[in-house]
Amino acid sequence: MPAFSDPSQQNQSDQTPLRIGVMASGNGSNFEALAQAIDAGTLAAEIRLLVVNNPGCGAQQRAQRLGIPCTVLDHRVLRERERLDQALVDCFRSAAVEVIVMAGWMRIVTPVLINGFADRLVNIHPSLLPSFKGLDGIGQALAAGVKITGCSVHLVTAELDGGPILAQAAVPVEEKDTHATLSERVHQAEHRLLPEAINAMIPVWRQG
Ligand code: GRF
Repeated sequence: MPAFSDPSQQNQSDQTPLRIGVMASGNGSNFEALAQAIDAGTLAAEIRLLVVNNPGCGAQQRAQRLGIPCTVLDHRVLRERERLDQALVDCFRSAAVEVIVMAGWMRIVTPVLINGFADRLVNIHPSLLPSFKGLDGIGQALAAGVKITGCSVHLVTAELDGGPILAQAAVPVEEKDTHATLSERVHQAEHRLLPEAINAMIPVWRQG
């Protein structure tokens, strides 16, 4: 757990749902898992805004179906990383977002975003960090021949997939696993872990 201010200073009175923003590039199953946990009452939050960088991606379609506002910030238009990140900061600030969740955001982020939401920018990664950072954590685990892999929820810092770990879940690798079957089980674990990890952090964020 990262060092935050004294828990005794915690503002216990703020019982309003945590206002979260979500960033996604692709399918968006983790985004939908957050929405489902909110509906089920296991995540005390509301999703104020989804931002996608790929117009028409699965995450955007899910947002339409779920009635969640979605903004497209296309990296092919906002070509400099810092410009894209400043636009993200502006969008989420306008939506009064307290915490941002990167749920399958496939772009490297810069200090513009990291410092704009310091200790309030969360990522989910499909491996047991610090193993298998970067692209294709599932493929890396299969290639390494590990018997257990999993997923990690962590705060985002300047080091790629290297920020403080908030929560992890283990997933056994089976002999007959393919990339698709292992990916499916890691995704199932992610869909449980991500809302749980966010919910557990609410008192910490609310104290700051
Ligand atoms: C997940 O495996 C997540 O760990 C990684 O990107 C994938 C996103 O999947 N960062 P989905 O779009 O939420 O289905």
